[in-house]
Amino acid sequence: MPQLPSTKSTSQTCSKPLSLASSRSSPWAYSTHPHYLPPLTLHLPLQPLENLPYPPSSPPTTSCASLSKLFPPKTRAFVFSAATDLHTHVANTATFSFITLRPRILRDVSASISLSSTLLSCPVSTPIFAAPTSLGKTVHPLGELEISLGCRSVNAAQVISTSASYPLPSIVSIATSSSLTPPHPLFFQLYLDKTRSRSAALVTSAVSLGIKAIFLTVDAPIPGKREADERASLATSTLTITTPMGDTATLTKGDSSGGGLGRLIGSYVDSSLNWDDIPWLRSLLPDGFPIVIKGIQTAADAVRAMEAGVQGIVVSNHGGRSLDTSTPSVLALLELQRCCPEVFGRMEVFVDGGVMRGTDVFKCLCLGARGVGIGRGVLWGLGYGWEGVGRYIEILNEELKTTMKMCGITSLDEVHPGLLNTRKVDHLVPEVLSEEHPYVKWRPKGMKRG
Ligand SMILES: Cc1cc2nc3c(=O)[nH]c(=O)nc-3n(C[C@H](O)[C@H](O)[C@H](O)COP(=O)(O)O)c2cc1C
Repeated sequence: MPQLPSTKSTSQTCSKPLSLASSRSSPWAYSTHPHYLPPLTLHLPLQPLENLPYPPSSPPTTSCASLSKLFPPKTRAFVFSAATDLHTHVANTATFSFITLRPRILRDVSASISLSSTLLSCPVSTPIFAAPTSLGKTVHPLGELEISLGCRSVNAAQVISTSASYPLPSIVSIATSSSLTPPHPLFFQLYLDKTRSRSAALVTSAVSLGIKAIFLTVDAPIPGKREADERASLATSTLTITTPMGDTATLTKGDSSGGGLGRLIGSYVDSSLNWDDIPWLRSLLPDGFPIVIKGIQTAADAVRAMEAGVQGIVVSNHGGRSLDTSTPSVLALLELQRCCPEVFGRMEVFVDGGVMRGTDVFKCLCLGARGVGIGRGVLWGLGYGWEGVGRYIEILNEELKTTMKMCGITSLDEVHPGLLNTRKVDHLVPEVLSEEHPYVKWRPKGMKRG
């Protein structure tokens, strides 16, 4: 791993010095926070979800025994929670185990493997990227700045959230500081603001800062119902968050609607966003500038995205945080392969949700994904600062290489669907592209397309 500055020198390498004093006074900047974490060892634990957060039926004390030691309660509830009963959240990961590998033997796999690739024409050293996650300060006082340094240490792409704890210029400044290794690709995730002009200004500023693509999130038009987040009480009596557009929103302890950070940060999102807005977004960008739609969950919508002329999609259900019982991501990827395989040749298809192991990454690549996003795992690593983020991605890289060799290949160009057996889940994958149910045919009078 290249030499990178410690957390302390991080702020000094930033051309716009950050106010560490103010970051430390945030409600999450626990001076004791590092003590929650075990030492960063060679084998960082890869199971942040081994004990799921607050399944509604079981008390947190028994179900979260190990997580509760690792992160403060409000952080744990915000980061590791998901929508309602967590079915999609759990299924995202579990479905990978139903897809088995078909290793090929007696192949010469002595060559060393390079995971170098390109995402949206940007060179990267791994197809694994940091998915956009909001409020990085809930995990580490330097939040997204450390994520950026961690991604840079392994040259992995990073998608910066609209709801990041730090302003975009500060994150870009850390990532591109000339004293360090060449910058990793930075993409910007957009939640459309109710006041369009604000989003327009944000997008224009992202382009001028050198951001390489806009990821438009479409699977969270309203906040998901995340019960653990709503229930976990604030450490302070009130909490005020400043949105990237400069608005402030305040949460009060004892609010009868609950204490959900997700609801708070979702308050500025424009739920009127629809397909007709894609040309508007395009009009703000230079010719050919990549737009990626994040949150595609059906083949029909993948085709619609392709028709809208975007450069990429992320097959994603927001890590199960938006709509519980929506389709696990890897099943949605299979649906695209079965019902609209042409989209893979016309756009870059990314996927995220429940990816915990190198074998999971491998399965996504075999199913045609160009890149694989990690949300909670990166935040788990962030508990250790940038080294944890880098180490987390490195461990997944090593597991991916091991899987490739065990399957008889030594190059990303050799991954293919024949290395997988998907029969256990094939019956769950729709057979034809249709907006309709396969046999329940009644229709309401007012139904619009899709
Ligand atoms: C704490 C947290 C915050 C998130 N914030 C955002 C966000 O601001 N924008 C977005 O598009 N997705 C957001 N996501 C969803 C991730 O980008 C990604 O889709 C999801 O985490 C992938 O699932 P995984 O956590 O199982 O890897 C967030 C996820 C988490 C866990």
